[in-house]
Amino acid sequence: MPSQWPKSAISISPRPCIRSQCLMERHPKPDLDRRRNISTYGYVQAKSLVYSKHGSPQDVLDLHTHSISPPHSSLLTLRTLASPLNPADINQIQGTYASLPSFTSTLGIPQPSAVPGNEACFEVLSAGSGAKTVQKGDWVIARHTGLGTWRTHLQISEEHVTRVDKEGLRAEQAGTVSVNPVTAYRMLKDFKTLKEGDWYIQNGANSGVGRAALQLGKRWGYRCIAVVRGRPGEEGEKLKRELEDLGATRVVSDEEMMAREFKEQVKEWTNGGKEEIKLALNCVGGDAAMAMAKVLGEGGCMVTYGAMSKSPMRVGASMLIFKDLRFEGFWVSRWSDQHPEEKKRTVDEILDLIRKGEFRDVPMVEVPWNWDTKKEELVDAVQGTLEGFRKGKGVFIFGDT
Ligand SMILES: NC(=O)c1ccc[n+]([C@@H]2O[C@H](COP(=O)([O-])OP(=O)(O)OC[C@H]3O[C@@H](n4cnc5c(N)ncnc54)[C@H](OP(=O)(O)O)[C@@H]3O)[C@@H](O)[C@H]2O)c1
Repeated sequence: MPSQWPKSAISISPRPCIRSQCLMERHPKPDLDRRRNISTYGYVQAKSLVYSKHGSPQDVLDLHTHSISPPHSSLLTLRTLASPLNPADINQIQGTYASLPSFTSTLGIPQPSAVPGNEACFEVLSAGSGAKTVQKGDWVIARHTGLGTWRTHLQISEEHVTRVDKEGLRAEQAGTVSVNPVTAYRMLKDFKTLKEGDWYIQNGANSGVGRAALQLGKRWGYRCIAVVRGRPGEEGEKLKRELEDLGATRVVSDEEMMAREFKEQVKEWTNGGKEEIKLALNCVGGDAAMAMAKVLGEGGCMVTYGAMSKSPMRVGASMLIFKDLRFEGFWVSRWSDQHPEEKKRTVDEILDLIRKGEFRDVPMVEVPWNWDTKKEELVDAVQGTLEGFRKGKGVFIFGDT
């Protein structure tokens, strides 16, 4: 993620917090609000997943306890309520992502380390006297990615978060709005001017981004060929119905798309090819992406935003010369940094749809994170994130932290 957080932006006292420890020793139990782990003097006990070298999550993640001093000036002490486990978070831990958080010593761990996670909904536990935009009890989300959200609490300056009106929302909805739905929204709006009735095609259509695109596209009257990896029997039929219900006009498996007859099939659906497919959204890559490019109409655009298959794409010269196709990329982190106002407007619009019941959540697999939750349970959930054919997106749901 482009925004590397300045060290001064995140203020965390490492575990020593000698003053608070002494005080706690003198007044062992009554001093701590057990539910919130806050001492009488305002020190918050926190836990963070951390890593100090890149690798497989199960090999490099650790759970670290530390304390956070009371906030001053415009600092906020935040309690995390919900934070998703997105593919990019794992790629950052593996060290394979385009932007990697710096390893720092701010958590007081001997090895410089980073906290994974890029998206969350937080509750403001306390605010410094200089904080103007939020107050205790408010919900906030990060303005940029790269914050390190897989932790029970953090302290950060108010300019790095945006207040969210929590009325009518669940924390996991606010905590998953900034990346996937915003990506889908911008890709449908910013690369081709689609009008009602226009066609687009997308792979990974059952992903978080894919499901958001289906719903937004349906709202705006777009027709979609939704490509998913095939499932056997009833499971495949069920997914097909689910995606049609969300907004897909046609659902095909990747095998069906790769078959020789696919082009003819698309021609039939698009009024003999008179209604051209203008846009393709690609998060898979490889030959499967090129099969989508083959059905794009002249002057069409493919937007690549992910590479789940890890396979490179081979673009035929004729696609560029004769079909005049455009191949673009989209990265929501960069776009958000470059368009902060538009990002806020997009988030607000989607949150309003959620409140009105007009935008459905991605299927979620809740991963409870309580004060006593074992490291292994958290790490197992992280490790499983990149496995295919999952039931839903993993989301840390924070309980009695
Ligand atoms: N560029 C950006 O700004 C941006 C923003 C958000 C997301 N993304 C990227 O978009 C992609 C989807 O993210 P998400 O959070 O929406 O995903 P998600 O909800 O976690 O779902 C993962 C998707 O990837 C598919 N998949 C997994 N392994 C695959 C493989 N080997 N080959 C083909 N498909 C595979 C899954 O299909 P099955 O169900 O069949 O396994 C599922 O559709 C990721 O690559 C992510 O990094 C990019």
